[in-house]
Amino acid sequence: MTADLSELRALLLDRDRLVSAVAAGRIKGTEAPPHTRLRPVTVKAGEALQLETSDGARPTVQNLPWTPETVDELLARPYGNWHVELTDATVQVRVTKRGKAFLHRTEASRVRDTSHDRAKPHLIAPDDPLFDVVGGDAAKRRQVDAFLHLVDGSLTGSTPLRVVDFGCGNAYLTFAAYRHLAASREVEVIGVDVREDQRVRNGQVATELGCADRVRFVADTAASADLPGADVVLALHACDTATDEALARGVSLGAAHIFAAPCCHHDIAAQLRSGSAPAPYGSLVRDGILLERFADTLTDALRALLLRSLGYEVDVVEFIASAHTPRNTMLRARRADVPAALRTAARVEYDGLVAAWGVKPRLAGLLG
Ligand SMILES: C[S@@+](CC[C@H](N)C(=O)[O-])C[C@H]1O[C@@H](n2cnc3c(N)ncnc32)[C@H](O)[C@@H]1O
Repeated sequence: MTADLSELRALLLDRDRLVSAVAAGRIKGTEAPPHTRLRPVTVKAGEALQLETSDGARPTVQNLPWTPETVDELLARPYGNWHVELTDATVQVRVTKRGKAFLHRTEASRVRDTSHDRAKPHLIAPDDPLFDVVGGDAAKRRQVDAFLHLVDGSLTGSTPLRVVDFGCGNAYLTFAAYRHLAASREVEVIGVDVREDQRVRNGQVATELGCADRVRFVADTAASADLPGADVVLALHACDTATDEALARGVSLGAAHIFAAPCCHHDIAAQLRSGSAPAPYGSLVRDGILLERFADTLTDALRALLLRSLGYEVDVVEFIASAHTPRNTMLRARRADVPAALRTAARVEYDGLVAAWGVKPRLAGLLG
């Protein structure tokens, strides 16, 4: 560490103000050290510094003593940039080839949270050996774990379950869901994706993991896959209207629980672009970025209303912080004994919204 880094060192050791920090990039002429995110956490032994290090493929998480030695070891690595979040400021640090540190501060106001909730133990940790076989980058591993936390919070008991994961892609969530749920019950998991190459690849992974008798894959659309029924439906970032197909299949397969984190929302966005907004709401869709964000909101609001009108209790939540994926919304639906009046109210609200905005949601067409 050069003397120039002493100010940064003091910030990383500031037990009253440090919220988090990210070290990235490299000093010119050196080899890039792995991207590292750190934050204070409270563990049994007291306060520690949690380091999440990623080379872009395999993240590792370690809780280390929050000591000058730990910080000095980090500062000895040739990071070119540091982004430090304090309770009262954000500090950007650029480190030059000569070891000079340029600090730029802006005021901020943050609450430091090292509570149990933030330090919630992983269900499937990013460095779990399962991912050595299944793969998945650091962001996807975190999404899968966060997704499973919401699934876990909704499923009680130990009754056998058939789970269908629509738009499963490389099946990171499919295998993680199997691993987690199979610890407490009998589980059969089916991954559905339009791509035949995914089916073949995922089938090989299931064999490698020794669970091919319990985890299988179908190459077909979510709308038309031949499936025996489902208790739980999952869909993580199923493209555009594939999420609608997953929701509709969840209903038609009789799923008691549906968890869908939608991806892009092109369908309604295109309809808004070619239609006209009801007065006085034109400004919501005049600018491209606002139109896209409004399309996201309208699409998910209409999906929730349709499911509510069919007797599902639905909440729309953030399943993970937006820093990990901008697509961090989840529709969480549970089939329930919703009174007829509430179902009707949801339908009336839905009819009013589609009439006002002149849109035809794909989900409505699929539900018939
Ligand atoms: C963005 S990827 C997400 C994959 C995976 N769930 C994940 O989070 O890593 C979306 C996947 O949906 C699949 N897909 C697209 N349309 C589909 C449809 N109609 N039915 C089933 N899968 C579909 C794609 O082939 C792709 O693998």
